[in-house]
Amino acid sequence: MTIQPRGTGDAEPRRHANDPPATAAAGAAAAAPSVAARDLVRAATGPDRRPVWILNGVNLGRLGTREPGVYGSTTYAQLADRLVALGGELGLDVDVRQTDDEATMIGWLHAAADRGIPVVLNPAAWSHYCIALRDAVAQRTADLIEVHISNVHAREEFRHHSVISAVATGVIAGLGTAGYELALRFLAGRS
Ligand code: DQA
Repeated sequence: MTIQPRGTGDAEPRRHANDPPATAAAGAAAAAPSVAARDLVRAATGPDRRPVWILNGVNLGRLGTREPGVYGSTTYAQLADRLVALGGELGLDVDVRQTDDEATMIGWLHAAADRGIPVVLNPAAWSHYCIALRDAVAQRTADLIEVHISNVHAREEFRHHSVISAVATGVIAGLGTAGYELALRFLAGRS
């Protein structure tokens, strides 16, 4: 399922809006947010789990049905679940989000920068023209890996240039959804 955009400056990490919480403690936090509940979540996920946000841009909530010949048949929900599980194995507290709203994405990038949280970003079509997104990424205070599912360099010419790449830590393109997993493994190995 697709995460619906929230307001600009939306900062709280979350997974799928309608998914069951990963732990009972997380359920308690969702039902009645409080400092105590947040502490319970922290205790359940472990103090050593480093947060990583995986941010997906416009149209990526339609993975699975969107041009499967290009992007594969894995749905967005399946991908998000797989990445949260892999993050757990790698000792990361992974939060996967998607929005079709540019302002929401920029708010998430500001929040990640303010908190020093590493990001895996698929900027989707915004990669190719969105200077505002590029300027938000340039403010990053931790690693940011740009991921593209398809090999953008082997596609239409307008996809060959990304305004994001020059301000990212690195870029993975053309390896399918495995690109997200490789980015997570890279971030897990960073001190
Ligand atoms: C994409 C490539 C972009 O050109 C395209 O607009 C997308 C997805 C990819 O993951 O391959 O939406 O970022």
